[in-house]
Amino acid sequence: MKAICVIPGKPNSIHLREVPKPRLEDVPHGRGVLVKILRVGVDGTDKEINAAEYGAAPPGDDYLILGHESLGQVEEMGPDAQEFRPGDYVTATVRRPGSSIYDLIGTYDMTTDDRYYERGINLRHGFLTEYYVDDPEYIIRVPQGLKHVGVLMEPTSIAEKGIAQAYQIQRRLRVWRPRRAAVLGAGTLGLLATLILRLRGLAVVTLGLTRPPYRNSELVEQLGARYASTQDLSLQQASEKYGPFDMILEGTGFSPLVFQAMETLGKNGVLIMVSVTGGDRKVQIPADKINLGFVLGNKVAVGSVNANREYFEMGVQDLAEAELTYPGWLCKLLTHPIKGLENYRELIDTLTEAKDAIKVYCEIAAL
Ligand code: BGC
Ligand code: ZN
Repeated sequence: MKAICVIPGKPNSIHLREVPKPRLEDVPHGRGVLVKILRVGVDGTDKEINAAEYGAAPPGDDYLILGHESLGQVEEMGPDAQEFRPGDYVTATVRRPGSSIYDLIGTYDMTTDDRYYERGINLRHGFLTEYYVDDPEYIIRVPQGLKHVGVLMEPTSIAEKGIAQAYQIQRRLRVWRPRRAAVLGAGTLGLLATLILRLRGLAVVTLGLTRPPYRNSELVEQLGARYASTQDLSLQQASEKYGPFDMILEGTGFSPLVFQAMETLGKNGVLIMVSVTGGDRKVQIPADKINLGFVLGNKVAVGSVNANREYFEMGVQDLAEAELTYPGWLCKLLTHPIKGLENYRELIDTLTEAKDAIKVYCEIAAL
């Protein structure tokens, strides 16, 4: 079968190659599920992997099949994987367990191992191909009525985890009724986080670089949230005008914003950091002020990476509620479909060059 691959460590090595089709027996104990891949989304991580800044091939291979945001359809199940039926629409989690205690209880997204395994990213092949076989533990059913937006499941799971972790942590307050949130970043992740927080009933301000109006600012407003450009309004000013924020979610990839967020976060507030920043940026920060604010304000900052199946399941619930509450909104995120694995060049070029893109994805087979 065909697969879009890179040679990790070699810049711009994206290419198409013939790879062996996986077999049901690749998963032991009759627990294999064979999934035909329909659509795969790409994001900044794929860009970094192709730029050789990130990513590793599975042991024994010198190439890595790209792609971690998948939607597929079950074709066949092993004798002991009967919880699925042929034709079921499914997505898959990205990380696979290592050996820490967190991995052993299904929370591999919380691993304390130094090495982590992520399909399409690190040490495991991804989904930009025709088929995969996996254990039901890592496969999540997507309702038929969500198949058109199912390729958004993985980025949704990332936002779900960050937000769910914040709610968990805030149980320290006995009563927590968050009213105001700021979301930093208005790309796919920022938009999905804005959606989830609106579904939870919060007043949300979403900050992006671009001046409104543009597609993303309109999408924010369609959710009844507010959009502001950081060119017109700093986070500090946004907080004076619309805060104090009970929650700030930082998803821009620009790490200095984390410290501005720490400064402006409201009392008892929680800051959620979800940007993977591979660089080596340094900034000066008002350390005393930030520390004092955290201490006197009982504030929390939490980092959040990846997501286990629990958060994918929350994602299914929220995408379904979103379709009922804001019909047609999710579809508008699917701005740049690229047809066929053989158009991998166009896929990566669109990802790097299309400034107006929200979700770029590969259409591998018809829904
Ligand atoms: C993926 C996550 C992954 C993270 C770090 C993100 O792009 O969506 O699943 O954990 O990269 O590798
Ligand atoms: Zn990703």
